[in-house]
Amino acid sequence: MRRDPHQLESEIFDEFEENARAVIFDGSCEKFLASIPDETIQLIVTSPPYNLGKTYEKRVHLDEYLKWQEQIIAECVRVLAPSGSICWQVGNFVINGEIIPLDIVLYPFFAKHGLKLRNRIVWHFEHGLHCSKRLSGRHETIMWFTKSEDYKFDLDKIRVPQKYPGKRHFKGPKAGQLSGNPLGKNPGDVWVFPNVKNNHVEKTVHPCQFPVELVDRLVLSLTDKNDWVLDPFLGVGTTVASAVLRGRRGCGSEKMKEYVEIARERVQKAIDGVLPVRPMNTPVYDPANAGKSLTHNSWTLVDDKDSWNQINLVEEVRVAGWSKSEDC
Ligand SMILES: C[S@@+](CC[C@H](N)C(=O)[O-])C[C@H]1O[C@@H](n2cnc3c(N)ncnc32)[C@H](O)[C@@H]1O
Repeated sequence: MRRDPHQLESEIFDEFEENARAVIFDGSCEKFLASIPDETIQLIVTSPPYNLGKTYEKRVHLDEYLKWQEQIIAECVRVLAPSGSICWQVGNFVINGEIIPLDIVLYPFFAKHGLKLRNRIVWHFEHGLHCSKRLSGRHETIMWFTKSEDYKFDLDKIRVPQKYPGKRHFKGPKAGQLSGNPLGKNPGDVWVFPNVKNNHVEKTVHPCQFPVELVDRLVLSLTDKNDWVLDPFLGVGTTVASAVLRGRRGCGSEKMKEYVEIARERVQKAIDGVLPVRPMNTPVYDPANAGKSLTHNSWTLVDDKDSWNQINLVEEVRVAGWSKSEDC
């Protein structure tokens, strides 16, 4: 018997099922994507492996990696609804200290299917490797593509507070009226969210999980309630958790068993309304405002004692070497 497609199931399904609310497939995205009917998914949000040799990937020649990505992208385009979006979040492939931004090399694989790039969103964060031979990387990008000109996008769902919410036009025909949209302003294409490191409330054992708020912005603006959201490289389930929290349907595949288990636990917590998440629009933590003593700036020479502190610090580093620098 066919069930009502608008009814959301509370259990997590193992395989793609039209009536499900959440699906977590334990296996490769190649296999999972093949099980999804054409034009079913409203939004695909993912961050694929970058071919850096992390614990969850085998580093291969760049050409081989790109060929593989091209095939996955083609399948994603097949399952995407005509009004749907793909958001592909990537950083750099690095070889012998040379960086190859993956968005540059992956772009043609979307463009060849006629997908339109609407934004190249820069995600800025504060923490990461400390490089010694180039500037430390503190951003990654999200390429947002749509399948057609007629795409879902609701800016009002993701507006952020105006800098001067009560400001009014001072003269002219609009004098006295609010100068900014009272619903808030467009968040722009540079997003500042802390990446999920040790002190983050959402941290699991996964080395590179999405912050929920990053996925939330995409889910809220690019889908409606009950629409399907897919992440072929699911990791610990962030995309499905965000979809569930926002009243959408979420599905994804992950090939590492350890992550699949964590994804299931997190999504179940999202369904039960107890998943710990960093609330949207929380200001980025500023240790100086939090009154931390370690924020005392020893470069500011207030008196002789401070100047002496800085000289000591420099000498200490010179003798011991700066062990936190990475050869990247
Ligand atoms: C960059 S991580 C994504 C993390 C995810 N955004 C999160 O919030 O947890 C990429 C993930 O893709 C998984 N993966 C790699 N190849 C895969 C494949 N062929 N099928 C499914 N998952 C794969 C890896 O195990 C890894 O967990």
